[in-house]
Amino acid sequence: MDVPFFKSFQSSRFSLFNKEKSTLGVDMGSASIKLVQVRLVEERAVLETYGELATGPYASKSIGQGVRLSSQKATEVLRDLLRETGATAKEAIVAMPVRNSFVTSIEIPKVQSEDLKTVMQYEARRYIPIPLAEVVMDWWQVPDSVIDEEGTVSTPARQTTRVILVAVPKDVLEKYHSIVKDAGLTVAAFEIETFSSIRSVVSRERSGMLLVDFGAVTTKMTMLDHGVVRANHSIEKGLQNITIALSESLDISFERAEILKREVGVSVRVEHQEVMKVIAPLIDFVLIEIERFVVGYTRKHQGTVSKVFITGGGALLLGLADYMVKKFGVEVIIGNPFTRLEYPAFFQPVLKEIGPSFSVAVGLALRGLK
Ligand SMILES: Nc1ncnc2c1ncn2[C@@H]1O[C@H](COP(=O)(O)OP(=O)(O)OP(=O)(O)O)[C@@H](O)[C@H]1O
Ligand SMILES: [Mg+2]
Repeated sequence: MDVPFFKSFQSSRFSLFNKEKSTLGVDMGSASIKLVQVRLVEERAVLETYGELATGPYASKSIGQGVRLSSQKATEVLRDLLRETGATAKEAIVAMPVRNSFVTSIEIPKVQSEDLKTVMQYEARRYIPIPLAEVVMDWWQVPDSVIDEEGTVSTPARQTTRVILVAVPKDVLEKYHSIVKDAGLTVAAFEIETFSSIRSVVSRERSGMLLVDFGAVTTKMTMLDHGVVRANHSIEKGLQNITIALSESLDISFERAEILKREVGVSVRVEHQEVMKVIAPLIDFVLIEIERFVVGYTRKHQGTVSKVFITGGGALLLGLADYMVKKFGVEVIIGNPFTRLEYPAFFQPVLKEIGPSFSVAVGLALRGLK
């Protein structure tokens, strides 16, 4: 199976080819599947359709609950979503969850490009915890010269080359492949979800930045340098844990707890005190994990973090961004991937409201245009 993870990772400019073609980004998250269809029109990426369908009800669970669907059920959700969005494109770029992937950034001695493959096969054995025969592996050599948004070129003098190595178990890839194929689509490429969000929400700057995807089940953290991944970490704690905790401690349904979570968010209001007793420790737990990851990274690499981008449905939690600013003392930006696309003006309020949830799907669709 051809899995060109890094096929067009570097370029952020759209080509003139594929002019007539629409592409789909498909993000199969634990609580919902998201889909975005875009088309290239005169070198601009135009939003054609988008949608999200909760997976919970397909496993007799509530809307918003994270579930592991069988391949058959996942295909059913995707088919329903394709129908409801009226998506017409047949080629999809599909997200590979971080929890099923292995991503690392390694330093290797500078070698001729024809020797890189041999070196990487050797190095991969040291880093990938499962037999190489069981994974599909890819890598991307980080260029020595990096151009930031202002067009400044910097070329640090180095004896080594940095390579981003990714690997995904073959059985996982096959499962995802069959889900998408059975829904009537072809897989143009797979991409690990973090890379898609980087494309859709992160600005290309020289400074160190942190990207956090607050999903329903997992929280993914990525350190970036010059807009390129340096380190990543994920924890199996997500926004659904708040809903579950509220539901259990206040003895209310999951649905009611979900509404309460969205209404209250991170609040200091007196009338929210009782609810905050449940929410605050869970948020603090995740923020402490984020801090630990960042401190570990900055100590090792003498780096700093100048900006934090937050994505995933959890980034929409009221007051979360401000709370993070207070905790970390740096700018926190709620990612809105739709700013990368053209769409009718009347869509603006709703797209801003749901933006962070679609960071992965928009990033995938954008890749399909290149
Ligand atoms: N407005 C909102 N306020 C608070 N939380 C929200 C809001 N909108 C969505 N969420 C929460 O975001 C989570 C869903 O986020 P997202 O769609 O990114 O998850 P996912 O991609 O399905 O999961 P994962 O990435 O963990 O596999 C849910 O827990 C949901 O309650
Ligand atoms: Mg997700």
